[in-house]
Amino acid sequence: MFFGHGTDNARDESAALVLHALGLKHDDPRLYARRVGVRGQQCARQLIERRIEARIPAAYLTGQTWFAGLPFYVDSRVLIPRSPIAELIERGFAPWLDPGAIRRVLDVGTGSGCIAIACAKALPRARVDAVDISRAALEVAARNVRRHRLARRVHLIHSDHFSALGAERYDLIVSNPPYVGAREYAALPPEYRHEPRLALAAGRAGLDSVRVLLEHSRAHLRAGGALIVEVGNTERAVRRVFGELPFLWLQFERGGGGVFMLATEQLPAVPGRGGAGRVRAEYTR
Ligand SMILES: C[S@@+](CC[C@H](N)C(=O)[O-])C[C@H]1O[C@@H](n2cnc3c(N)ncnc32)[C@H](O)[C@@H]1O
Repeated sequence: MFFGHGTDNARDESAALVLHALGLKHDDPRLYARRVGVRGQQCARQLIERRIEARIPAAYLTGQTWFAGLPFYVDSRVLIPRSPIAELIERGFAPWLDPGAIRRVLDVGTGSGCIAIACAKALPRARVDAVDISRAALEVAARNVRRHRLARRVHLIHSDHFSALGAERYDLIVSNPPYVGAREYAALPPEYRHEPRLALAAGRAGLDSVRVLLEHSRAHLRAGGALIVEVGNTERAVRRVFGELPFLWLQFERGGGGVFMLATEQLPAVPGRGGAGRVRAEYTR
């Protein structure tokens, strides 16, 4: 068994599955005075068997996970949220940015919408554009935007990176893009095969998406803005290949790493507006 989708141990996952089977929440007071009937037992057993035998991550079995203290619907159309960027969002990106000065945010590769939605909650004066190349992922994100009643401030856009954004500029571009290299992808535990390949695989070295972000973000950032990107284990390749850039690698109290920040002025000058070519229509607005 591999635990890497929001929990790091069997006990927490078992608890999530059993509570889901019994229709209870983890803070439900009935939890401590409950006789479990035959149907509840069967349902819990079935979920646990699917987790063990089919190696399906628990969040896909329950359809729910948490990110930055908020609940999100998830299914196999989207990556299960787990980015350490949650910690930055909860602090409104302080001390790196002034939360009150962030008015426009772009989330590239929004998946379930978790980063975009958490940003909108943490920065109540900000408008957030959230792009993804996967229409299936955008359907899940739309469900989460509705659930959190943020349709007025979180806009979902079908786009290959920046392609559908025209000349829009933002105070903050944040992204947890695909960054798994080919060899690493082939060696991932079975749990990861249930996640969309598009959400993980990023070419031979895992740099395909990061490269686009580094080359095109400056054209979409305002002066004094910042790009924040998670690259996980691909940090070493990023340092090697883009060694001339003055990355600030951020530290996290709750663990995790591989997240860099660059100010607008530290990014490479613009090779031409519009991103990686294929222009996509707007998804919802
Ligand atoms: C690692 S997942 C991150 C999802 C979500 N932001 C999170 O943190 O859980 C990367 C996302 O990028 C999307 N993606 C992949 N290639 C893309 C591209 N060329 N343009 C826009 N989005 C892309 C995938 O569909 C996927 O939803």
